[in-house]
Amino acid sequence: MEEGCSRIRRRVSVRKRNRPSLASTSAIPSAAQLQSRDEQEEKEEEMVARSRRRKTVGVQPVEHNDSEEDMFGDYDSFTENSFLAQVDDLEQKYLQLSEQRKHATDFATEDFCSESIKNKLGVTTVSNFTEYKSDEHTENQTEHEDVPIEPGTDVLYDLPSSQVLYFENLQNSSNDLGDQLTEKRDGSSSFPNTVNEELSHNCIKQQEQNDGSSSKVRSNSDTSRRKSIKDHLKSTMTGNAKAQTPIFSRSKQLKETVLSEEINVAKKTIESSSDDLGPFYSLPSKVRDLYVQFKGIEKLYEWQHTCLTLSSVQERKNLIYSLPTSGGKTLVAEILMLQELLCRRKDVLMILPYVAIVQEKISSLSSFAIELGFFVEEYAGSKGRFPPIKRREKKSLYIATIEKGHSLVNSLIETGRIDSLGLVVVDELHMIGEGSRGAILEMTLAKILYISKTTQVIGMSATLNNVEDLQQFLQAEYYTSQFRPVELKEYLKINDTIYEVDSKADSGMTFSRLLNYKYSDTLKKMDPDHLVALVTEVIPNYSCLVFCPSKKNCENVAEMICKFLSKEYLKQREKEKCELIKNLRNMSSGNMCPVLKRTIPFGVAYHHSGLTNDERRLLEEAYSTGTLCLFTCTSTLAAGVNLPARRVILRAPYVAKEFLKRNQYKQMIGRAGRAGIDTIGESILILQEKDKQQVLELISRPLENCYSCLVQEFTKGIQTLFLSLIGLKIATNLDDIYHFMNGTFFAVQQKTLLKEKSLWEITVESLGYLTEKGLLQKYTVLSEEELQYNFHITKLGRASFKGTIDLAYCDILYRDLKKGLEGLVLESLLHLIYLTTPYDLVSQCDPDWMIYFRQKVDKDIVNRLYLSFVLYTLLKETNIWSVSEKFNMSRGYIQNLLTGAASFSSCVLHFCEELEEFWVYRALLVELTKKLTYCVKVELIPLMEVTGVLEGRAKQLYDAGYKSLMHLANANPEVLIRTIDHLSRCQAKQIVSSAKMLLHEKAEALQEEVEELLRLPSDLPDVQ
Ligand SMILES: Nc1ncnc2c1ncn2[C@@H]1O[C@H](COP(=O)(O)OP(=O)(O)OP(=O)(O)O)[C@@H](O)[C@H]1O
Ligand SMILES: [Mg+2]
Repeated sequence: MEEGCSRIRRRVSVRKRNRPSLASTSAIPSAAQLQSRDEQEEKEEEMVARSRRRKTVGVQPVEHNDSEEDMFGDYDSFTENSFLAQVDDLEQKYLQLSEQRKHATDFATEDFCSESIKNKLGVTTVSNFTEYKSDEHTENQTEHEDVPIEPGTDVLYDLPSSQVLYFENLQNSSNDLGDQLTEKRDGSSSFPNTVNEELSHNCIKQQEQNDGSSSKVRSNSDTSRRKSIKDHLKSTMTGNAKAQTPIFSRSKQLKETVLSEEINVAKKTIESSSDDLGPFYSLPSKVRDLYVQFKGIEKLYEWQHTCLTLSSVQERKNLIYSLPTSGGKTLVAEILMLQELLCRRKDVLMILPYVAIVQEKISSLSSFAIELGFFVEEYAGSKGRFPPIKRREKKSLYIATIEKGHSLVNSLIETGRIDSLGLVVVDELHMIGEGSRGAILEMTLAKILYISKTTQVIGMSATLNNVEDLQQFLQAEYYTSQFRPVELKEYLKINDTIYEVDSKADSGMTFSRLLNYKYSDTLKKMDPDHLVALVTEVIPNYSCLVFCPSKKNCENVAEMICKFLSKEYLKQREKEKCELIKNLRNMSSGNMCPVLKRTIPFGVAYHHSGLTNDERRLLEEAYSTGTLCLFTCTSTLAAGVNLPARRVILRAPYVAKEFLKRNQYKQMIGRAGRAGIDTIGESILILQEKDKQQVLELISRPLENCYSCLVQEFTKGIQTLFLSLIGLKIATNLDDIYHFMNGTFFAVQQKTLLKEKSLWEITVESLGYLTEKGLLQKYTVLSEEELQYNFHITKLGRASFKGTIDLAYCDILYRDLKKGLEGLVLESLLHLIYLTTPYDLVSQCDPDWMIYFRQKVDKDIVNRLYLSFVLYTLLKETNIWSVSEKFNMSRGYIQNLLTGAASFSSCVLHFCEELEEFWVYRALLVELTKKLTYCVKVELIPLMEVTGVLEGRAKQLYDAGYKSLMHLANANPEVLIRTIDHLSRCQAKQIVSSAKMLLHEKAEALQEEVEELLRLPSDLPDVQ
């Protein structure tokens, strides 16, 4: 199960009010300085014009349309409009020609069959534009005319993209019919990469075999062919006229042509490994424009340029780079990812630590993907397909959590597709040292290094110390710099004195100032740490984060501060705060946390894992736009977050009861002064005299080393690794497995971590354990007069590996499922839910159920049952708040349980898929997984598939009339802002781009399926 749900860290959009002009940042102008916009625009216009001259010759109807006008212009009177007249003309021409060549080719039977499949799959658009594509296809028409195609009956039919394709093909067919007819008959197409071409190509092949069998169908088609083209066009226009008219412009089309030309140039540049970096680091200049447009980034920092132009980077060597927090590490990784996707035409995997960060990245990169023509696919929570869909043309950027990234890599290895992965980027690489998640990250990277020599690995972090170990493991180059665009000043507060952290001073700190704030006796008692004084120096004009050791402490501190804030604070952004409270209430079916209700009017809120995802998102949005100015939070908000904070205060040098680590300290204070949001940043660590010595050590010592957890995390580490190595046939005998182990991060540190045993001993021991547990089978073979130990994975082993089940539980799961078969109660979902309630959450549950304690029962079973009651109630009521109240558990915990159960349910499903005896569970668990994943009213499910649309937002959208994915993909962001409460322009755009992306993905998947169905089997017996 992913930890992400409990410890979510998010990046939130740049806050407008504090955003300095980017030109004024301290970045030194560099060779990276980009061409001026004017020059760029001029160049682009010229290319557009050139491309227009080239492309539009002889296509009169298109020329008549002004570049910015809607293609269909006055379609209210289309009977006589010139556009249809052109179609008529083309049809006439076509008919004459096809009459002449009546017996030349015949694909009717084939297309008849394909059409029925296409209709079944609801992809009539494919056939629609197929018909106009070339004469072969027009000849193929059979059933199209008989099946009235109503706008709206087809998944793709009423999409703007279908209009675009429709028109493109129409234009193309007019070209073809005008002067390239004979060529087209030979199967050559000017649209080499569309599904149509491949369909037609397949049809040609098939036709050669089917000759003579299809004349009957062909004659049917002839009689109604003429009607179809015009009528289809009319019906499409009618359908589209009813729908919102998209802006389809000639210039847009031409710009796309320019873009694809630039991509081709860039591709060649990369292939030739020339020093010329192309318009923008070998990328089309459009990428640079998109960074200006979407992220406000106008030029690269000096270090970013240096890093991108390192010879090792150009040579695609593995790379680790490390810079302080807010150094701008993400941009470098993004540019390298785009190079891989667009120029080298390979897929990319980006691994991020938490679900919410994955979702944020998906939203922010969706617009890039749409503009540049690649897919962004989400692998987080229960989302993600294994193996991923094989894309025909566009490449995919998989954005994944650590766990999903591992499963994705496994599935690519299993299907022999790992070489399609050109680049793997790991953000927050130091997480490799963090428990079982670190072990999974290590396994993923070790497998890639071992099996795919062409996949480049890039890791980044702000808090790395023992880089050499990591370098050795990843065989990577290292780049580092101390650059931080916004200076961060560190302070310590002891009593009422503030000291500045100063590495040059003997004590590590120098006196800075005394706190100047008059404290009454009551205030002194209530606020001995002077928090009120410290925060009021900053808020409400700037924002402030106060890190607290525990969740409860966050809430108490927020309330305490508000008690002493003057009434003036209430007047700040009063309207927005009321809106926020209203929205929080609406999102939670009328419920509202009493603490937030009291603190929000002052612009203050707490932020920790006890909040629901909806609440968290709303509060973060309000904070980043300045409606809220103070967050009291736990360390959940520490790493990778881009929230505004002029000042970060650490309430105490503790996280829970543990003394702060240097890495944690650095990550927390690193939230202050984020580039593009704030111009200054400062941190204040509050400490008591007793902790002074430890704190002085904390601020002066180096960052902690990170150590491999592979062996320490027994069942979740080395055991899981070995099982998958054998299951995936990466290494199946003792020698190979040992060889693999030599390439791990653990092997680099083995002498430090486990002196008593050799790597060989560790390997043998772990394999022995797996064999004993019945997950592996050992057999010996004699090779070159030597005994060799080989291993097979057993059925249970394979099921556990496929289901990514923690090996500590796999036999218990098997036993429980087996027992379930004896009397599965299907009257309600309860029994099934019990079977998919995560084992690892059981120990955290403390049922308030005295009767069970009095009896002698297995506590694990009771706890699990108790949790399944919680889940069962949740599925019935779909209201986290009422369930939270009913079971006296925090709403954040309930949501965490739900996410965990959804994940585990999908794991159990995969487990059952491998074991014949559990066939009955397969169908049942598909539905249950879906129910647990969404746990909302069914009608909201399609909307919630869109990244970033949570339940509350889905409800709002649904109520406003956006009922399907197609509605969202075609929505106008400006209209959304007007109709949906509390939705910023940026969010509206992100929702629309994410929906568009998802829709494209679905359409592509269907086309893929059609192609697969129509593909000529390579092993088809020769009938000659
Ligand atoms: N060249 C640039 N010009 C202006 N702003 C930039 C530039 N590069 C990055 N930024 C902005 O700087 C902010 C911080 O960047 P980023 O999130 O990449 O930091 P980071 O190095 O990953 O920090 P952390 O280690 O805390 O995750 C972002 O808002 C980003 O948009
Ligand atoms: Mg980062």
